[in-house]
Amino acid sequence: MDIEQVKQRAGPREFSPKDDLPEKYRKAATRMIQFHANSEIMGAYLERPFIREAPSLDRKLAFSAKVQDEIGHGQLLYRAAESLGIKTRDEMLDELANGEGKFLNCFHYPMESWVETPMIAFFVDGAAMRRQATLKQSSWEPYAHAMDKVCFEEGFHVKHGEAILYELMTGSKKEQELTQEAFEEWWPRIIQFFGPTNDKSTHHDFSADVGLKTMTNDELRNAFLNAYVPKAKKYGLEIPDEPRIRENSDGTYEVVEDDLDWDEFFTIAKNDSPGSHEQIGKRRRTQEAVEWVRNSMDDWEAKSAGQTPQAAD
Ligand SMILES: [Fe+2]
Ligand SMILES: [Fe+2]
Repeated sequence: MDIEQVKQRAGPREFSPKDDLPEKYRKAATRMIQFHANSEIMGAYLERPFIREAPSLDRKLAFSAKVQDEIGHGQLLYRAAESLGIKTRDEMLDELANGEGKFLNCFHYPMESWVETPMIAFFVDGAAMRRQATLKQSSWEPYAHAMDKVCFEEGFHVKHGEAILYELMTGSKKEQELTQEAFEEWWPRIIQFFGPTNDKSTHHDFSADVGLKTMTNDELRNAFLNAYVPKAKKYGLEIPDEPRIRENSDGTYEVVEDDLDWDEFFTIAKNDSPGSHEQIGKRRRTQEAVEWVRNSMDDWEAKSAGQTPQAAD
């Protein structure tokens, strides 16, 4: 198949490993899915310390289930990317550890306090849900298929984040103030989640033409604002003055994009902020710490010549 044929056939779940696809499609899909997989892993690293910090057993259980889900999403997505035949899962994990792998802007910032947890679990996961729901229609079938499970679990993550936000915003005055402060800090980053506006995005046109993406950054961002500005207000959060949010006559919302710090966004996109170095360093140290597990599994596989162990009776 050549690119023109790919463009003609492109549609939801149209292509799978049985198709002979041009390298240009396979590389674009790998880039997109690898970014997504890396983001799942790096988000989990940010949230993991809060399993310990959780103020009750219920919250602890919910947090550990969420973190486990996110690592599972990463695993599913590396497999979906691997099936394109460009990079192996191991190569992608090595790229993440050595700083070449790219991931979502929000996960380059440190998260230090419990009041910040709903900023990820409610707002960032809510934003992720917007995008991921559209990716169920992606043309790379293994990716779209992975989204069925991912979206199902994200629904739980958002509810978990919403429950924490509700608890904080109906708590003490101090809790409400600290949550508002955290919201003001995270809000611009959350809006930037969807990336720059369409005319600054270099990858969208091709990805849209071959059916990997179905909505533009702007469409997704506006859909997110329409849903989450009212939700933030409902829980008593005040929308910060900057970036300015415009309310249109039909009740929809738009952000004034020039109010956002795109220099910071693009520095982060290159893994070049102090937070990027910090987060990637954590991932690299963990990867090194468990190297003995991978090595012993490789040794076992080599010795057993591909035989699987017998199940115990
Ligand atoms: Fe996830
Ligand atoms: Fe999630």
